[in-house]
Amino acid sequence: MSIFLRLAILLAILAVVRSELPFEIDDPVFYNTINDESYRLPEDLDPLEFDVEITPYLNATTDKEALTFDGFVSMRLQALRSISTLVLHENVREILNVTLFNESGSEVELSPGNEFERDRVHHFLKINLRDGLSLTVNAIYRLVINFIGNINETPLSRGVFRGIYRGSDGREQQVFPCFDEPGFKSVFNMVINRPAHFTETYANIIGDRVREVFNPTPRMSAYLITFHISEEFTVIASNNNNTHPYQILARPNAQGQGAYALEIGPPLTTWFDQYLGIEYYKMEENMKNDQIASPDWASGATENWGLVSYRELRLLYEEGQTNALDKMYIGTITAHELAHKWFGNLITCRWWDNVWINEGFASYFEYFAMHEVDKTLELADQFIILYVQSALSADSGTSTRALQHTVNSPTQVTGHFSGISYSKGASLLLMLKQFMGESTFKKALNYFLLDRSYKYAVPSDLYNNFQKAVDEDEAIPANISIASMMQYWVEEQGYPVINVDVNMDTGLIKITQERFFISPSAAATEQNWPLPLTFTTGSSPDWDNLKATHVMLGREYEIQKEPGHEWVIFNVQQQGIYRVNYDIVDDVFALMRSGRMTYDLGFQVLDFLKKDTSYYSWYPAITGFSWLRNRFRHMPDTFREFNAILLDFVNAVVSELAYDVQDGEPLTRTLNRFYVLQFACEIGHEGCVSDAIAKFNAYKENGERLSVNPNLRRHVFCQGLLNGNYTDWRFMYNRRQASNNQGDEVAMLRALGCTTNAEDVQAVVLPAWFENVLSNLASYLDEDGLTDMEQWLRANQESVAGAATGLSAIASSRSSMQWGTDNASAVLRAARGSAAIIVPTTMLMLISVSLLLR
Ligand SMILES: *[C@@H]1O[C@H](CO)[C@@H](O)[C@H](O)[C@H]1NC(C)=O
Ligand SMILES: *[C@@H]1O[C@H](CO)[C@@H](O)[C@H](O)[C@H]1NC(C)=O
Ligand SMILES: *[C@@H]1O[C@H](CO)[C@@H](O)[C@H](O)[C@H]1NC(C)=O
Ligand SMILES: *[C@@H]1O[C@H](CO)[C@@H](O)[C@H](O)[C@H]1NC(C)=O
Ligand SMILES: *[C@@H]1O[C@H](CO)[C@@H](O)[C@H](O)[C@H]1NC(C)=O
Ligand SMILES: *[C@@H]1O[C@H](CO)[C@@H](O)[C@H](O)[C@H]1NC(C)=O
Ligand SMILES: *[C@@H]1O[C@H](CO)[C@@H](O)[C@H](O)[C@H]1NC(C)=O
Ligand SMILES: [Zn+2]
Repeated sequence: MSIFLRLAILLAILAVVRSELPFEIDDPVFYNTINDESYRLPEDLDPLEFDVEITPYLNATTDKEALTFDGFVSMRLQALRSISTLVLHENVREILNVTLFNESGSEVELSPGNEFERDRVHHFLKINLRDGLSLTVNAIYRLVINFIGNINETPLSRGVFRGIYRGSDGREQQVFPCFDEPGFKSVFNMVINRPAHFTETYANIIGDRVREVFNPTPRMSAYLITFHISEEFTVIASNNNNTHPYQILARPNAQGQGAYALEIGPPLTTWFDQYLGIEYYKMEENMKNDQIASPDWASGATENWGLVSYRELRLLYEEGQTNALDKMYIGTITAHELAHKWFGNLITCRWWDNVWINEGFASYFEYFAMHEVDKTLELADQFIILYVQSALSADSGTSTRALQHTVNSPTQVTGHFSGISYSKGASLLLMLKQFMGESTFKKALNYFLLDRSYKYAVPSDLYNNFQKAVDEDEAIPANISIASMMQYWVEEQGYPVINVDVNMDTGLIKITQERFFISPSAAATEQNWPLPLTFTTGSSPDWDNLKATHVMLGREYEIQKEPGHEWVIFNVQQQGIYRVNYDIVDDVFALMRSGRMTYDLGFQVLDFLKKDTSYYSWYPAITGFSWLRNRFRHMPDTFREFNAILLDFVNAVVSELAYDVQDGEPLTRTLNRFYVLQFACEIGHEGCVSDAIAKFNAYKENGERLSVNPNLRRHVFCQGLLNGNYTDWRFMYNRRQASNNQGDEVAMLRALGCTTNAEDVQAVVLPAWFENVLSNLASYLDEDGLTDMEQWLRANQESVAGAATGLSAIASSRSSMQWGTDNASAVLRAARGSAAIIVPTTMLMLISVSLLLR
């Protein structure tokens, strides 16, 4: 297959599936690379209120170009300093004119011939007063700007963009000159002049052109404004409640797919109202709570205040088509976005250096709020494998970033909307909750929200309000302050691993901590974290008490327990952000990679997987095994042998789960089968492969009557095509063209990528967001592919956006192969189980412990 064909198909797949990654939720998209504070607006003005009027032209008229809009903005500003140049953000097509008035309506003279300057690098608009004039401190001014905007073709361009859905519509993220930093908040009064034959415009708050005037918004940051104009988008589900409205909007042919989103949204809102003590529908008069499904939204979802935008995959549910994982994500992402109404919209991080204040809370509630609405999803437990373990993984390198991290340029800002802000932020909140207890945690959140409503927040606001609550409740030891504990976690990168040494005769437990690095060669640091400790012992096992009994300050710590031969397990239920130098599956893989545990020992511990069939063991196990396996792909003999060894591990879990979904089984069992069968088929499990081919053929021959269960489609379609011919590929391709469901399309796109036949893939088109997926691509290629890709990128460096990212991904892919070459024999020897080694008693304990944990 040529590099271009690979590129085409992989990009198409990645473009669709990238939204499945837990962290790519609602990053605003920015460009540019310059790194300095010149990107920040001066804090000279307080933007109190905006009147905005937009008139879009999708078709050309006698005096308007197609895909443009006329814009008018009038802003009420309070001067905080006596300045003679006003600076704000602007990134529009053309500024027509700018006028400034004082409070009594007289024009303030601007510099003749140089009224305004446009700084296209920083997207600044600078307005110059006439020589000798300056603003009066505390006085109110009105700034009026007439401009023309572009309607862009792709959702990744900033501003208004046009979306296509077998029809057409327009939508936007940011559109008018404004103060585009989260710390600036204003009231927005929007007016939209839509073509008369379009459907009602859905905008933040609320109703031949129709002039639609929206209710004033709450005082809010400009990045949260959105509106949507289209010919036919419509309400596909509504609770028909005038005081607490909740609506699902989508293209009309998605009718019937909004019921699940509507089923969970209102109870989630009510749960937040009660838990946080501030009611959503009282945040402002006439609050709307609309959720809109966009066929090609740039991220998973975005938390615009009255109108949350989602990819269709993340909001629409269709019985018989949507798989259990996508259905779960509809719930968790809705909870994430609704949590933002309080954490992000009502209070907002002052600047993106602390974006974790928005994203950490939203990610925490993504699981813990949805858990309260549907406990059968086991989200409080899944939080550990999906968020805590991914935080531990994301934060284990030498160059990770602290939660609070200086960012200035748009690229730096985008980069900080990364795994750590979400997963470590959320994990820290869980640890904090367990430390003080839930009732104090809840009280502290309410204090924090009341204190900073309609304002920005910095970490010290959080610490002070938490301190107030823990003091009142005497919830933590009096000699530990919230600020001193939290600061360390927020301002330091990384996290600790603890070593535990128990003297069975005296009962003295000695604990030491140091920073955990995944790389064995990383240099140790002096860091030590204030660490709330939980543990339980063999003589009185208690897996439910998650409240810390000790706080470890400093590098070493001792705890005296009763003497006696018994096991001691720290970090009960993995609620803390640290690893223990013996623990369950996720830790074993990390400890082996980091050189803290030998492969021999690691695989002896992992041996319990040959009998264990739990989702909570297998999810991290598949991640860990796949990590190793991907490093052996370039060595066919090793790869084959490793696959054969892995078959021994999966046999038990495959036969326990079997090949079909049973009605009424727990969600985690369905998810476990979903992942385990993909893995088992991939490593060549015969039963898995032949069952998949049988299902694929039955489906092909009998059509929808024998449709494949959506929770089995990924591996069934993939195996069907891997073992099929062009006719099979064509069948799947046609089926995809006819699909009305994005989740189902993802399953088919993935399957289309499974094929090994070059001529099959010609028809797949390159998606627009090329740059974003280049870096993922390298990890899918072998050395030949890497060489092709490298040559192609080097030859096209000028024209390919993100060529540098692609080249660095190639380098990291090569180093993975090197790792495989260097470690293959040690890993294989350990995996074969041939090494003779004595497993310490604590390890053996672990096997029974991991059984107890469920
Ligand atoms: C633009 O023109 C097309 C066809 O000429 C028409 O179907 C569509 O409704 C027009 N759009 C607007 C906004 O008038
Ligand atoms: C500014 O431009 C708008 C739109 O072209 C026009 O209607 C208005 O008269 C202009 N105002 C001034 C002060 O030039
Ligand atoms: C606005 O400007 C006019 C003309 O310079 C002046 O007479 C008036 O006092 C100003 N109003 C305020 C509130 O400063
Ligand atoms: C609207 O929703 C609220 C909150 O759930 C509920 O108390 C009220 O009864 C509902 N009103 C109607 C008319 O259904
Ligand atoms: C805090 O107080 C507890 C007793 O309440 C004591 O055991 C501990 O050593 C103290 N820690 C510090 C850092 O002073
Ligand atoms: C693919 O295989 C099926 C039988 O398995 C056969 O009927 C069909 O003609 C083959 N198609 C091609 C293009 O070879
Ligand atoms: C594994 O590979 C790394 C990197 O190539 C190397 O530094 C390390 O020594 C290897 N470990 C073993 C146990 O061979
Ligand atoms: Zn978010």
